[in-house]
Amino acid sequence: MNYTPEGLNLEQLQQQGLFRKERIVESKDGTIINIGGKKLINFCSNDYLGLSSHPDVVRAMQDATIEFGAGSTASPLVCGKTALHLSLEQKLAKVTGRERALILSCGYMANMAIVSSLARNKSQWIFQDKLCHASMVDGSMSSRATLKRYAHADPSALEKLLSQINEEERALVFTESVFSMDGDIAPLSNLSSVCQQYGACLVVDDAHGFGVIGKNGLGGTDYFSLGQNEVPLLMATFGKALGVYGAFIAGPEILIEAFVQRARPYIYSTALPAPIIAAVSAAVDVMQREPEHRTKLASLINYFQSGANSLGIKISNTNTPIQPVILADASRAVRLEHILEENGLLVRAIRPPTVPRNSSRLRITLSASHTTQQIDMLLDVLSLAMPALDISA
Ligand SMILES: Cc1ncc(COP(=O)(O)O)c(C=O)c1O
Repeated sequence: MNYTPEGLNLEQLQQQGLFRKERIVESKDGTIINIGGKKLINFCSNDYLGLSSHPDVVRAMQDATIEFGAGSTASPLVCGKTALHLSLEQKLAKVTGRERALILSCGYMANMAIVSSLARNKSQWIFQDKLCHASMVDGSMSSRATLKRYAHADPSALEKLLSQINEEERALVFTESVFSMDGDIAPLSNLSSVCQQYGACLVVDDAHGFGVIGKNGLGGTDYFSLGQNEVPLLMATFGKALGVYGAFIAGPEILIEAFVQRARPYIYSTALPAPIIAAVSAAVDVMQREPEHRTKLASLINYFQSGANSLGIKISNTNTPIQPVILADASRAVRLEHILEENGLLVRAIRPPTVPRNSSRLRITLSASHTTQQIDMLLDVLSLAMPALDISA
């Protein structure tokens, strides 16, 4: 075989600190992860509430496996959708206060489904925050609509773009609620007002907000008290705070029906297996019944931030579990990742193209399963390593 991937230069990627290396996990126990033969404290998972190993969630998955088997065996429109799927969709519609919800195989596919079903021709526009996740960008690239990106978390920049399109043209606007790599919260109320003023449909990707922020932990729309009129489409994933896998889209009946009729990632892909659905359903129940996980997470976020501030460690001040340490240079981020690992801590360096050039970072994530002692260890190592690498406080 002499077919080589065009433009791929592995040596150059290595030199630039941009080479991506897969790491194999041998076992996991709460926040302790056995990876590459080392036992490390995991500070890079999205298991914000620690539900991936909650006994009710694990048991629900085991029980449903015995009842339904391991796989769903077909697309949801053929024979892959069970009564468990329907009841989870109904539960999600109810808790989010939306007319209807639909389960998709994952968040990446859910964003592809939204764009490909709703923005299908050249006279449509897609506006996205500059820091929106790759799945929204990729969805737009598969559509005939024109994509424009607005300055990060800036409703006036969005308004400027919306004011330039003709009245009869349709626009879909995408934002994340909690930005995945920065941890800041989008100004959803203001974005929603601008969208309503121009008749645009706002889509909120709540992957990192659902389960974490808001009075009831129901994410960005809960945090800003925004209903279906203000945020017509809400997408959230099951693989982060809920600790399992998959995603849903919730919104008005007519839009959700459009996904059933048109969304290729829904129609042409095998349904999520029933054991996964049962585990997600149990995780939603735990999230509502046991707010203590969220309360503990909030207190650990405060603990980390005040510790970092008192040690002079420069972090982005977010009140979410995503606490990035921004280091412009990719190689430096990788060096800091290695030092942390040598000291028993797993934090991954995030580099371009995942984040913009010159903004490589360590993406530290906190979980309700962490202890204050584990956070002390992280702070100690950061406070010694950062000056040694000439990364100032
Ligand atoms: C903001 C955002 N949207 C969508 C996704 C994709 O979700 P999934 O992992 O379920 O495909 C992610 C995952 O990293 C994400 O961070």
